[in-house]
This record gives sequence, structure tokens and C-alpha cells, in this order.
Amino acid sequence: MALRNVLVFPDPRLRNKNTDVTVFDEELKTLVADMFETMYKHDGIGLAAPQIGVNKNLVVIDIPDENGTQGQHQLALINPVIVQKEGELIESEEGCLSVPGYQDKVMRYPHCSVHAVDVDGKEQNLDNLEGLLAICVQHELDHLSGKLFVDYLSRLKRERLAKKYSKLTKRGD
Ligand code: NI
Repeated sequence: MALRNVLVFPDPRLRNKNTDVTVFDEELKTLVADMFETMYKHDGIGLAAPQIGVNKNLVVIDIPDENGTQGQHQLALINPVIVQKEGELIESEEGCLSVPGYQDKVMRYPHCSVHAVDVDGKEQNLDNLEGLLAICVQHELDHLSGKLFVDYLSRLKRERLAKKYSKLTKRGD
């Protein structure tokens, strides 16, 4: 396993088009393991492949237990599609590993259903998700469409953030 470099907003590569995974081999399993390792390293609960510069429709998610520990609920959603979003929009306080250290409120559906396959190409249909998992799925799948949570904020806020993060990235970390 290896840590991967996480792209930081406003890196244009975060807007790249992503394609479906078609080969379910050891390389895919290594990629998924690397994504989990990278996500844990940055204290994340979700990570999408394009965030590490891999333009595939693949996200990993691990919602912590009540005591904050991770590892019990690992999900690798491959070629995922949200088939249903339901309920009245709710406010969600979010952050993103590609916008490190910043949080803001965006609106999300409280319930959703997602259909995907796992690392072996086997169907996994997760229906009527709720709570943090439902919100995390919406956030991560946005990444696969080249969309970031800051895109829901005002243009002014987003441009300020873009300026701030451009400077940070140029300083080189
Ligand atoms: Ni994110």
C-alpha cells in the first residue's frame, strides 16, 4: 500500500471527466487500499479517485463509529449511481480533503439510494441510506462529476478560497 497525493482546490484536474472501472484485478484492489490509507492519513471519511488524480468512477467511504473509530464500515463504491434522493433538503456542515482546513454549510438530501459494484465487480445496492452516510455518498459522488462542495457556495466565497489555496499550493507543501 502507498499514500497518494491529494489534489487541492482549485487544481483543474479535480474537474476532469471520469470513466467507469471495467477491469476488476489486483491493481484495482491496490488502488482501493491506497485510497483508504490516504483517507485515514488525512482523517477523512470519504475520498474519490479523481482527488488522487485517478479519473475513474470510484469512491471509498468509512463512517466512524460513535466513539470515532474507523475500519468497521469500509465501503468501496465502484461505478456508483445515485438512483434516488429523497426528503426535504437539510443543511450539512462539510469539509473536503481537497479543501483542507475549511468547512462550510451546503444543502443535501437526507436520504438516498446508491447502486454500485464492489472490487470484485459484484453488485452492491445500498438503499434508503440516511444520516452522515447519505450525505457522504452525495459529496463523494459529486467528485465523480467534477463537482466540489465549494461549488454550492457563493461565487465570492469560492473565488476567495481559490485565491487562498492557490497561494498555499504555490508555497509548496
Ligand atoms: Ni470531498
